[in-house]
Amino acid sequence: MENEVVVDRNPHRLMVFDLGKDIMRTREYAQGLEQMHHLGTSVSKHSFRVALMSVRLADFLARIGVELDRNVLVRASLMHDFGILGRFEGKFKGIKGCCLLQHPKDSVEVAADLVHDLSDKEKNVIASHMWPFAATAPKYAESWVVNFSDKVVGTWESVAGALALVFSGKRKTVTE
Ligand SMILES: [Fe+2]
Ligand SMILES: [Fe+2]
Repeated sequence: MENEVVVDRNPHRLMVFDLGKDIMRTREYAQGLEQMHHLGTSVSKHSFRVALMSVRLADFLARIGVELDRNVLVRASLMHDFGILGRFEGKFKGIKGCCLLQHPKDSVEVAADLVHDLSDKEKNVIASHMWPFAATAPKYAESWVVNFSDKVVGTWESVAGALALVFSGKRKTVTE
């Protein structure tokens, strides 16, 4: 079926596309699609997966009476790593692991420039996503969920990327 149109009916993916559409139209998101991350994916694909896992967890938590702000989850997830865009260029060139502790703060700055109504909760979600490695701790339930999702997704991507490297002998590309 060469001309068949594939319609994505996954409710969580649709929710991320809907709530995140303004972020996903930005130059930063497009730049993130071109920058390699976690051995085998791109910054923006990683961020989309973090948003997806966060809204799935939000639905699960809702069943036990914990209500989370899905708008905050999606927007903050999509922007949480914007602080590493271009990290191998300019002042960071050649410095391995340069941004581990700094990039959550840089991400908040980029997000605040991009989104005029960035809330304190969204700032904390972004700033605390590297806790306990970076100093800012999660203050809200949404912050804990994105922190957890980022670690699970990042670990999975890194392991998959490393295995692809070992078994195929070549690095995955940002399109995979
Ligand atoms: Fe990060
Ligand atoms: Fe991340």
